[in-house]
Amino acid sequence: MIRHFLRLADLTATEHQTLRTRAKLLKKERAAGLRHATLAGKTIALVFEKSSTRTRASFEAGIKQLGGDVLVLDAQGSQLGRGEPIEDTARVLSSYVDAIMLRTFGDERLEAFAKFSRVPVINGLSDGAHPVQLLADLQTVDENFGTIDVPMAFVGDGSSNMARSFVEAARLFGFLLTIACPEGYEPPADEIAAAGGRVRVVRDPREAVKGVSVVNTDVWTSMGQEAESKKRLAAFAGFTVDGAMMALAAPDAIVLHCLPAHRGEEISAEVLEGAQSRVWQQAENRMHAQKALLEILLPT
Ligand code: CP
Ligand code: NVA
Repeated sequence: MIRHFLRLADLTATEHQTLRTRAKLLKKERAAGLRHATLAGKTIALVFEKSSTRTRASFEAGIKQLGGDVLVLDAQGSQLGRGEPIEDTARVLSSYVDAIMLRTFGDERLEAFAKFSRVPVINGLSDGAHPVQLLADLQTVDENFGTIDVPMAFVGDGSSNMARSFVEAARLFGFLLTIACPEGYEPPADEIAAAGGRVRVVRDPREAVKGVSVVNTDVWTSMGQEAESKKRLAAFAGFTVDGAMMALAAPDAIVLHCLPAHRGEEISAEVLEGAQSRVWQQAENRMHAQKALLEILLPT
């Protein structure tokens, strides 16, 4: 059985616990200058059909730190950009490497790629999910509160990959999540229902953040939705996470944003740069969490 990581549920609860513990250790050991060779002799391909800074750099640096090799393919510079079927790319690429991270558009593209791959496939962001980001986000929550079982809010586009992965996390790990989004921007109803009462959708962002420990947000216009950006800017008016909104959260609340951020849109510059922001810690944790993930998917 090939181990893919297309969504959070592709790891067991125990593996998630192991991953978080290992990621924290890898972080400490890197700070102490310790070297690892757990990916020695392995090559991992990173395939991008959408832009990336963090995902590309954190995977590439992390793989090298574990003694592995990496190759990067962009849609533009490969036959993917000229319409070669994703299934063909998966078959060929997976005969060269030991694992493949794919950042793509529709989830059906990701599923098709995984179906035809002979090696583990990692979802590096699709239209419907961003599970590797959640690994880092949960590690950050854990580092700040000593647990991930704290009330969280997501303010903004509830239909985005980030919001949907938070819904999946609430379902799997049991924390309470309140999503504030305008009408028409909710997570899919079946995903909310599957979370069995752990996820609540409200219209007023102030209601959502009231007393929570973690306030999350993400861009209003995700990659691939650029044509809708004007409409979205209008729809999300009043959803900016700013100082007034943060004053309603718990006094020790933290703010997360997967980045890139648009200051003055989904988050104010003051909050992004402020004392409650953990976005840089969160971005750093991408690398540590993904190293731990690769060790699970590619055991020595
Ligand atoms: N958060 C995140 O995935 O960033 P990139 O788009 O830069 O990879
Ligand atoms: N929702 C955003 C996340 C970027 C990391 C997007 O898909 O563009």
